[in-house]
Amino acid sequence: MAGTQWQAVDDYIADHLIPVDEAMGAVLRNNEVQGLPPIDVSPAQGKMLHLFALMIGAKRILEVGTLGGYSTIWLARALPDDGRLVTLELEHHHAIVASENFERIRVSEKIDIRVGKAIDSLKAMTDEAPFDLTFIDADKQSNVAYVQEAIRLSRPGATIIVDNVVREGEILDAASTDERVQGTRALFDFIAREPRLEATAIQTVGGKGWDGFALAVVR
Ligand code: SAH
Ligand code: DHB
Ligand code: MG
Repeated sequence: MAGTQWQAVDDYIADHLIPVDEAMGAVLRNNEVQGLPPIDVSPAQGKMLHLFALMIGAKRILEVGTLGGYSTIWLARALPDDGRLVTLELEHHHAIVASENFERIRVSEKIDIRVGKAIDSLKAMTDEAPFDLTFIDADKQSNVAYVQEAIRLSRPGATIIVDNVVREGEILDAASTDERVQGTRALFDFIAREPRLEATAIQTVGGKGWDGFALAVVR
């Protein structure tokens, strides 16, 4: 079955290119023990986010959707000593678990986690901007609003990445009653018409199934 091979190839990639990291393993185990859903990015995707941040020399990073902070840690580890990351999370319990994980990994001094509806935190944000990189990975129905805020809070030339824009090809279903699918379809329509964004989307397969991410540069 293709899905089994996708996982096996992800394991092969990780075995070769992502050094075993006991602390990161402990983060994922803590998330599981604390009952968080296993919907973090994969190790290969986490490292991709890390590399994107290194490629652009990001000093200020914004994340929407923390969960247990697995993607947050990959991003924060790419920051220089004076770099900062703001991550937004709705669920108090997720934020507590993420904070524990940030302490464990010793990146907590670079990370500011804000609990509440991400849209409220985004609308209130000014001092921390402009950001060099934004990773959007929360409630998919709000993706257009999050990208609009991300553009507002970006420096010219900044990168915006949106997770889960393919969802096993469900985005093709114009009649879908799933608001996450409709939110992602609205995102594609919005980006297509937004002159401040230069964008593409890349399909991915692996341990997280068939999915993909959108990648945009703010003019
Ligand atoms: N980026 C994480 C996974 C995030 S999962 C990783 O890869 O490790 C999506 C997260 O978004 C969940 O923790 C969920 O509670 C949060 N979320 C959902 N709706 C939200 C909202 N309106 N505002 C902020 N966070 C929200
Ligand atoms: C879901 C959310 C995610 O951010 C993800 O990467 C995978 C799944 C979900 O809501 O099911
Ligand atoms: Mg995701």
